[in-house]
Amino acid sequence: MSTPDSDRLPRVFVTRTLPGRAPLERLETATAPDVWELERPPTYEEVTERSAGCVGLLTMLTERVDAALLDCRPGVRVVANMAVGYDNVDVAAATERGVLVTNTPGVLTETTADLAFALLLGAARRINESERAVREGAWGPWHPTWMLGSAVHGATLGIVGPGRIGAAVAQRAQGFGMRVLYHGRRRARGFPGESVDFRTLLAASDFVSVHVPLNEETEGMFGADAFARMQPHAIFVNTSRGGVVDQAALRDALVRGEIGGAALDVTTPEPLPPDDALLDAPNLLVTPHIGSATGPTRERMAELAVDGLLAALAGERPDHLVNPEAWERRR
Ligand code: DGY
Repeated sequence: MSTPDSDRLPRVFVTRTLPGRAPLERLETATAPDVWELERPPTYEEVTERSAGCVGLLTMLTERVDAALLDCRPGVRVVANMAVGYDNVDVAAATERGVLVTNTPGVLTETTADLAFALLLGAARRINESERAVREGAWGPWHPTWMLGSAVHGATLGIVGPGRIGAAVAQRAQGFGMRVLYHGRRRARGFPGESVDFRTLLAASDFVSVHVPLNEETEGMFGADAFARMQPHAIFVNTSRGGVVDQAALRDALVRGEIGGAALDVTTPEPLPPDDALLDAPNLLVTPHIGSATGPTRERMAELAVDGLLAALAGERPDHLVNPEAWERRR
């Protein structure tokens, strides 16, 4: 509700109701937040319209923030993205215009690693198929060869992207007595695993788990060639971004039995339509981008996004600035 005080505060557009009360209350101490009220994300046009007169945007990974939007709203000085990934924001365009972009790293590391491991276990031990069999009346008497899965303990896990989340998954793997390999652009000091090149990782791993950001370098990096290099029993796990996978190639690899299975928390597009061809592929487990979805984690993400937004508007350098060049430009 607009009050004489809030009328004097700088306007910010928040593209979804934030979890918990504290983040919004903090935002209200220094800004007049306009919160998108619907469950569905605002369209690009709606974001453009609602950010009229705003100095900041608090966005989700569903909102595209590009040069045209920033040119249309030159008053916007900060985009605080409530996600660790920021592939939805054209960071170069923001930097050119001196707009600070912030993200929310660290607070979702363990939660996302939990889900990656849950997917790995779920796919390995055929949890979704087994559960479905129970509900569908297909649970017959115990049989020595029914619902055989893959062993997780003692297997080799290949982690692509040895950042925070990759390291947290590797720690979990150690608890399961797995051998851990990793591949990244550079050697990750202290990473609990052995550094190998990408092809070696694909060929040697029983499980491959992806933890890279989506950018020009990683887009489509898991295509026909990558799947052909994996072992026929290998299980592919992706909790990063759907865009790192060529989904048609993944479908083919599953249909032809080039790999043993896949477990995905991220797809292209999101939401994945129920009639998408990918869903016909065998040995596939899909969850709806819930990697960071626990109450406390989502609240911490909202708090961090608010921190970034408020710091930028107060003229301070935000802690989780993804484009420090924009900060330098402003000075
Ligand atoms: C992120 O923060 O980038 C995640 O994908 C959201 O769960």
